Amino acid sequence: MKRILVTGGLGFIGSHTVVELQNEGFEVVIIDDLSNTTISVLDSITEITGKKPEYHNIDLRVKKDVVQFFEHNKVDGVIHFAAFKAVGESVQNPLDYYENNIGSLVYILQEMRDRKLDNFIFSSSCTVYGQADELPITENAPVKKAESPYGNSKQIGEEIIQESCKAHQLNAIALRYFNPIGAHESIKIGELPLGVPQNLIPFVTQTAAGIRKELSVFGDDYPTVDGTAVRDYIHVVDLAKAHIAALQRLLHKNNKQNFEFFNVGTGTGSSVLEVIKAFEKASGKSLNYKIVGRREGDITAAYADTTIANRELNWKTEKNLDEALASAWKWQQQQ
Ligand code: WQD
Repeated sequence: MKRILVTGGLGFIGSHTVVELQNEGFEVVIIDDLSNTTISVLDSITEITGKKPEYHNIDLRVKKDVVQFFEHNKVDGVIHFAAFKAVGESVQNPLDYYENNIGSLVYILQEMRDRKLDNFIFSSSCTVYGQADELPITENAPVKKAESPYGNSKQIGEEIIQESCKAHQLNAIALRYFNPIGAHESIKIGELPLGVPQNLIPFVTQTAAGIRKELSVFGDDYPTVDGTAVRDYIHVVDLAKAHIAALQRLLHKNNKQNFEFFNVGTGTGSSVLEVIKAFEKASGKSLNYKIVGRREGDITAAYADTTIANRELNWKTEKNLDEALASAWKWQQQQ
């Protein structure tokens, strides 16, 4: 049975990926420092799959702890989610973002190099494209100067991995996520934003639940169908399954280069107002919102061209926006 390390495995996307890995018969070991999640997620994963993943509470910024982990643990692959991911916060604390997002990546890659471990999957983001010149966004779209230290840490991370693959016979895949939303059908795991949600969907569901007074829609003067910004909202379970597909590609040595990257989205763009309307339909709730000014750093529109990911990963999304929003609402009602 192949053993896979999942860093950040108790986080939103990480926990959903651990469930899919276990469903596929992989043995999973999780590293998570609980900086953006809670230990209860480990029990929730166990309830869903009936198998408790091995768990280590390690801060990946501490090199000696990373070395010690790899001294005692052999793995057949690594899926690296662990990172800080709040765009706005990264502008306030760039150095903490680089220390965590880049530092932990380097330490893990050094251990893989020294111990000849292979098969590395990296959590990247469509943020690397900035505002793409053409839509939908293909993998050929140029990487643009990052708008935030968070986005920059993803760009630098990809470059570090690419250079490591070249120098050290490592095989890696970066998955460039669009906007992950929703929750597992069991409603035992989902998005757990700590504090005031930065992302749209948790703010929508918390507003519908009466936790937030109203949703602020950041701008309705964009050149889009209704003036509000457009994104590609992908169900987190579909996104999790893309990681399994990428891992299998590496384990079966089907990759065509030692470093590859794929856009992982649905291929459909939805505006903020379209999301609100779909949420009201899916939840039966009317949402309290107001239009305010644009948010600093936001782009007008982003949605994926999924041709290459569909073909090369033999993967495609199975759930649509309505299902994702319905699951997000059910998850909110559980909180
Ligand atoms: C979506 C849309 C907002 C909140 C970021 C990162 C990306 C990934 C996901 C980590 C935008 C609008 C939002 C609100 C609003 N992060 N909005 N009111 O900015 O597309 O992507 O989060 O992995 O890398 O860049 O996601 O959910 O913040 O915003 O109107 O209260 O909703 O302006 O148009 P974003 P988001």
